[in-house]
Amino acid sequence: MLDDARILVTGGCGFIGSNFILHLLERYPDCRVVNLDKLTYASNHANLRDVEGDPRYRFVQGDICDGELVDGLMAEVDVVFNFAAETHVDRSLMEAGSFILTDVLGTHVLLDSARRHPNVKRFVQVSTDEVYGEMSPGARAKESDPLHPRSPYAASKAGGDAQCNAFFETYGLPVIITRAANNIGPRQHIEKMVPLFVTSAMRDEPLPLYGDGRQVRDWLYVEDHCRALELIAREGEPGEVYNIGADNQEENIRLAKALLQLLEKPLSLIRFVEDRKGHDRRYAVDSSKLRALGWAPQHDFLSALERTVQWYQENRWWWEPIYAGPFRDYYQRQYGDRLASGVPYDPEGGTPQ
Ligand code: TYD
Repeated sequence: MLDDARILVTGGCGFIGSNFILHLLERYPDCRVVNLDKLTYASNHANLRDVEGDPRYRFVQGDICDGELVDGLMAEVDVVFNFAAETHVDRSLMEAGSFILTDVLGTHVLLDSARRHPNVKRFVQVSTDEVYGEMSPGARAKESDPLHPRSPYAASKAGGDAQCNAFFETYGLPVIITRAANNIGPRQHIEKMVPLFVTSAMRDEPLPLYGDGRQVRDWLYVEDHCRALELIAREGEPGEVYNIGADNQEENIRLAKALLQLLEKPLSLIRFVEDRKGHDRRYAVDSSKLRALGWAPQHDFLSALERTVQWYQENRWWWEPIYAGPFRDYYQRQYGDRLASGVPYDPEGGTPQ
């Protein structure tokens, strides 16, 4: 399926997409990759500078909502991986229109083009565990569970997933949906919790922890995610959904403490700040269906975190300019008031309610 395939990767200049393209080019010497990316704020052309001269790799700047452009590319490929998405929950709380456009309409444009191109043998929709909504303690979402998206971001991804199902049922398009846990690793935009906290600590700036900091996420190292996607494209069944979770569940406060320890920075950098609206308390997925195909994560929580921290330490050139650009305005809007009224961590006093 991938060995000598022509592969369209959308959103390939983003965090997971760029890691996946590097993974493909390394693992499959005879594959060819076209990367369609709009180059929004969340992407970075430098993410793929190491393969720019590789004859197997081609970059096309453009929008997945552009049907004509998509049709031209779709005619030339065997496999599609759709990573292109607006992904940050906090931004979706400020403005959700771009999420609907890219995550719902953009997915539709890709699917509609793929169904008119029988050369396309697999369409992998890279989705998220957030479509299941919040999980009660001990529960883990199965692929057959109903979707309960609770943020505008999760709702837009659920809209994309629903269309994938529709195109499989209606047209027999060989679509597979994947729903992964929270990713960490190299080249993740600093708006997300882990890179924001790591780079803030390196700058001796406070770490804004929402609410009581007891929310739980499952932390998946991006390379483990890439290996899962590769396996699913090869061995997965069209029309099926595959969860991708590492069972590295941690509370946000414990994660914050662990990364401060790794960086040898004081816990007093933690600030409890006003919570995110509609903040999902816990995500967790059951990935036994994927594990039955032979996948297992190679990185536990600490190893994933250590590698991530090390990458941000070694690549200040990558993230420092982001703080000097338009991100400053977003940071101010998202965190200005929150940090002004934030409560510093007190090792004796526990967490605020
Ligand atoms: P995030 O990285 O935004 O991923 P998601 O919301 O998609 O899971 O957030 C991960 C967790 O960290 C989530 O519980 C929200 C929390 N968080 C903070 O406490 N402070 C922050 O500044 C951010 C961005 C997230």
